[in-house]
Parts: sequence; C-alpha cells; structure tokens
Amino acid sequence: MAKKKNQLDHLAIIMDGNGRWAKERHLPRFVGHREGMENIRRIALAADDLGIKVLTLYAFSTENWARPKAEVDYLMNLPIHFFDHYMPELMAHHVKVNIMGFLDELPPKTYQVTQKAMAMTAQNSGMILNFAFNYGARREIVTAVKQLVSQVQTGTLSADDIDEQHFSKALMTHQFGDYQDPDLLLRTSGEQRLSNFLLWQLAYTELSFTKKYWPDFTKEDLIQVVKDYQMRDRRFGQIESE
Ligand code: IPE
Ligand code: IPE
Ligand code: MG
Repeated sequence: MAKKKNQLDHLAIIMDGNGRWAKERHLPRFVGHREGMENIRRIALAADDLGIKVLTLYAFSTENWARPKAEVDYLMNLPIHFFDHYMPELMAHHVKVNIMGFLDELPPKTYQVTQKAMAMTAQNSGMILNFAFNYGARREIVTAVKQLVSQVQTGTLSADDIDEQHFSKALMTHQFGDYQDPDLLLRTSGEQRLSNFLLWQLAYTELSFTKKYWPDFTKEDLIQVVKDYQMRDRRFGQIESE
C-alpha cells in the first residue's frame, strides 16, 4: 500500500550563512544580509505556492546583539526595508505577517514597522509569515513560566491545571493553534544546531540540514526538502505505520 504523505503545515527555517556567502565573494557581511532579505521574499512566495500554512523564519536571535554594532544596526534596519519593498506583494498574496520576539527591546523605528506590518495584514487569510526577531527560546520559556506563576499567585490559575497544552498557550506561537509546532525545521549553511530556536515547539519536528548558504537556497531546493519530508515516517513514539 502506498504510504500516506506527511502534510507540511508549519515550516520553520534557521536562515544561516549570509556572512559566509558574502565572505566567499570578498564582499562585506551586510551584502549577504541584503541578499538574504531578498531570498526571504522568494522563499515566502514559494512556500505559499506549496500550500504551507505557517512559515517561521529565524531572523535575529537574542544572542545576535553580541555582533559588531554596525552589523546589528544593519540587521535592525532590514525589517524597515523588507516591508517597504514587499508589502504590496505580501498583500496581493493575502499573507498575514507575525513577528515574535522581545519586540519592546527593538529600536523604536524597527518596533513601529513590525507593529505596522502586523496591523496591515491582520485581516489577511493566507499564509502566516512569522518572523522570529530578537527571539530566544530559553527566554521565551522563562517568560512563560513567570506568567503562569503570577497567575497562580493571583489565584486566576491553579497549579494543577498546568499541563503541556496550557503551557503552550503561554508561548509566542500560541496563536497558531493547531499549527504551533513546526512539522519541519530546516537550517541552511551546514551548521547542525538549534541556536536557541523554538526549543519547546521542536519536540517532534523533523529536522533537515542543507549545506547551501541562505542567499543561495532556491525554490527548487525547497521543493526537494519538502519531498524528502513527505516520505518520512513520523512515529511520535508509536510503532511504524502500516
Ligand atoms: C544568518 O547569517 C543571519 C543572522 C544570524 C542574522 P549569519 O550572519 O549568521 O551568517 P554566517 O553564519 O556568519 O555565515
Ligand atoms: C542563528 O544563527 C540565528 C539566526 C539565523 C537568526 P547564528 O549564526 O546566530 O547561530 P550560531 O551562532 O552559528 O549558533
Ligand atoms: Mg550564522
């Protein structure tokens, strides 16, 4: 009997390798980030074509502040350019933008643009394009714990009622409902680590790694990654499916 193909609803990508892409070309790192930004557009449209419902992109980690100030400044300005350039196209494709992370720590202009992008696309019913920006999973989890503890302290929550489902509701992915947990995580650039990304949500996610740097990752590459994912046997602790 032919195997049933896995549905890919939520794809998460650690977009890595912009710096090395630039270095190989003897270009400054920011050129790699600019190319990387343009690739977000291409891959987002490709993901939409493939019927993906949530595309989560790791764009800036809570650890990335440790980079040189000029690079951090450049990265903080990218959302401004991205939405300036691509908002009409995102609207035409009914894409709903979400940005998750510790957004109140962003420079005011960057913060404003994130709020504007979410507000403008709030009524869109197409693919959710979810950016993780100033995001870190450990801090996300600690923040969730603090929120639940304070609910217990004020008496609005009983400690006995905290289960996995309830805990998930305190995380930044809660609004994606059935699609909170990525089905597939892809990391580009050859590194094979999570770098503090979605530690809770990735518990049963399929993992995929490619050597290609993010600016070089194409729609055809994505189609291949999706095909590979569709043939996997996701067991969730059970025994092999018939
Ligand atoms: C990913 O590319 C983008 C961010 C982390 C912001 P890098 O900038 O990490 O590129 P490499 O890993 O140095 O090549
Ligand atoms: C992870 O990439 C963060 C993003 C892609 C935004 P990094 O390049 O920062 O991760 P490490 O330092 O190689 O683990
Ligand atoms: Mg990197």
